[in-house]
Amino acid sequence: MKKLTIGFDVYGTLVDPLEVSSYLHKLIGDKNKLFAEIWRQKQLEYTFRRGLMNQYKNFDICVQQAMQYAMDCLTVSFPNNEKDNLLNLYSNLKVFPDVMPALKLLKQNNHTLVAFSNGVESTLKTLLSNASIINYLTDIISVDKVQTFKPSPKVYEYLASKTGADPAKCWVVSSNPFDVIGSKSAGLNAAWIQRDPGNIFDPWEYTPDITAKDLIEFAAYLK
Ligand code: 2OP
Repeated sequence: MKKLTIGFDVYGTLVDPLEVSSYLHKLIGDKNKLFAEIWRQKQLEYTFRRGLMNQYKNFDICVQQAMQYAMDCLTVSFPNNEKDNLLNLYSNLKVFPDVMPALKLLKQNNHTLVAFSNGVESTLKTLLSNASIINYLTDIISVDKVQTFKPSPKVYEYLASKTGADPAKCWVVSSNPFDVIGSKSAGLNAAWIQRDPGNIFDPWEYTPDITAKDLIEFAAYLK
C-alpha cells in the first residue's frame, strides 16, 4: 500500500540555482556570486508579483527577465550565445549529493514521489533527466497548469488533486520557507530542508512539521 505522497520542490531543494556562479566567474569575475544571488532572488520576486497581479508568465520567462535585471543591476552584458549558455545551465544543474540516495530509500519504502515546482514541465523534465533522478519520480507537477505560482493555495490544491492524495497524507519538501508556509497554510504537511544552518525560517504563525538538514535526514524521520 502506498504510504505518503511527497512533492519535492526543485530549485533550491533538489538542485542549487547558485551553482551557475562558477560559470559566471568566467564571464564577469568576482561579480559572479552577487549576480547569481540577484538572479535567484529576482526570479522569485517576479513569481510573487505576477501571482499577485494575475499576470502569469511561465517560470522560464521569469528566469530570463531576472537574468536581464541582474545584468542591468551589475552593468554587465553577455553576447546572446552566453545568455543561452546560462539559461541552459538552469536545465543542467546538479542535484545535491543527498538527493538520489534519499529518493531511492523513500521509493523503496513505497512512498509516491513527485517533483513539484514553479518550473515549466518541459524544462523540469530536461533538468530531472539530466540529473538522472527522473526514474524515482512518478510525476512532474508544474504550477504552469494552474497559471499562478507558489505560495498560492491553488498550487498546493493542484498537487493534492493531481496526485489524488489525501491532504493528510500529502507532504511538500522544500528548502524555501515561503513554500513550506504556503503548504501548511493550504492544509498539507511540510518539511523544511535547512541546507545551511544559517538559513532562517520566517517568524510566522506556520512552522514546518519536520526540519531536516538534508533529504536523507528527512527520509529517516519517515521510517
Ligand atoms: C521551485 O518551485 C520555489 O523555485 C522553486 O522549484
